[in-house]
Amino acid sequence: MTEILSVKNLSRRFVTKRLWRGAEVFSAVRNVSFNASRGEIVGVVGESGCGKSTLARLILRLIEPSSGEIFFEGSDLASFSKREMRRSRQKMQMVFQDPYSSIDPRFTIQSALLEPFKVQGQLPAKPDQRVLELLNMVGLDASFAHRYPHQMSGGQKQRVGIARALALNPSLIVLDEPTASLDVSVQAQIINLLDQLRRDLGLTYIFISHDLSLVRYFCDKTVVMYAGRIVEILPKRGTPAHPYTRMLMSSVFEPDPKSRRTITRLAGEAPSGYALPVGCAFATRCAFATQTCNEADPALEPFAQRHQVACHHAKKCFREPMVA
Ligand SMILES: Nc1ncnc2c1ncn2[C@@H]1O[C@H](COP(=O)(O)OP(=O)(O)O)[C@@H](O)[C@H]1O
Ligand SMILES: [Mg+2]
Repeated sequence: MTEILSVKNLSRRFVTKRLWRGAEVFSAVRNVSFNASRGEIVGVVGESGCGKSTLARLILRLIEPSSGEIFFEGSDLASFSKREMRRSRQKMQMVFQDPYSSIDPRFTIQSALLEPFKVQGQLPAKPDQRVLELLNMVGLDASFAHRYPHQMSGGQKQRVGIARALALNPSLIVLDEPTASLDVSVQAQIINLLDQLRRDLGLTYIFISHDLSLVRYFCDKTVVMYAGRIVEILPKRGTPAHPYTRMLMSSVFEPDPKSRRTITRLAGEAPSGYALPVGCAFATRCAFATQTCNEADPALEPFAQRHQVACHHAKKCFREPMVA
């Protein structure tokens, strides 16, 4: 499989000025490296605030990295001229959690779907026909062209968000929690639609979610983030070897839905990006932590075929049975 996206040692720090304290540096994304092959679905999972959306914005060059590189279809994005960047922007699109943020409530769906063309400075030859094609691709009929966002359900609006992302024939789509605000049944329909589109159009997805079970079901590989870093890259159906991924898994497989904890309600808290420890950022919450963990931050290293882990005690953790 050919690589379409390659992210190397990507970091992003935000400098913020807090009252009385002067400038402080917040590390939102730290030393992130991973690849996506053409046609692959790469899942990115982690608690709220771990840097998922910042990573998405970095990949699409909506914000600049502090350091590191992004290769798209073999070329270094930083080396692109304005014109090349505009072309690569067409090829990389984003779908957001809240379709409202990408559809202006004052305009019809038709104009929302034509907006990407206007931004690029070129309308399609037959605009009405292209709008119908796009609606058709996402399972909406022609009548939707002249509706307004408030006349549609959450699922229908997210279909429009996806159609907008498809307008310029992209090859890579970054989806940032695309189903997080939808009911479970609607979520399943959107996932099926995304899967079908990927197969029909040969798309590659970076699928961001805080729902590990959804990511494990839908994605070919799972990138687990913690406090801005990747702690594990797991192949489909691979058994996690990082204590944090295990913690996420055990909360997901709690059989009684009432006592099932969501990721955002796991015990303990990740350290702040303002004050990261020298050692492993997960050590304070980890059952396996030893003195080494407080002293040295473990590197992300190969663990098995297509499986990487950043943990001093990965082997020991892996030998433990999964608590399901
Ligand atoms: N422009 C910014 N300035 C300062 N801090 C930011 C900025 N953007 C994001 N952050 C911080 O970076 C951290 C990661 O945010 P984000 O990438 O949105 O996480 P996630 O999508 O995983 O919930 C958050 O703590 C957030 O406050
Ligand atoms: Mg986010």
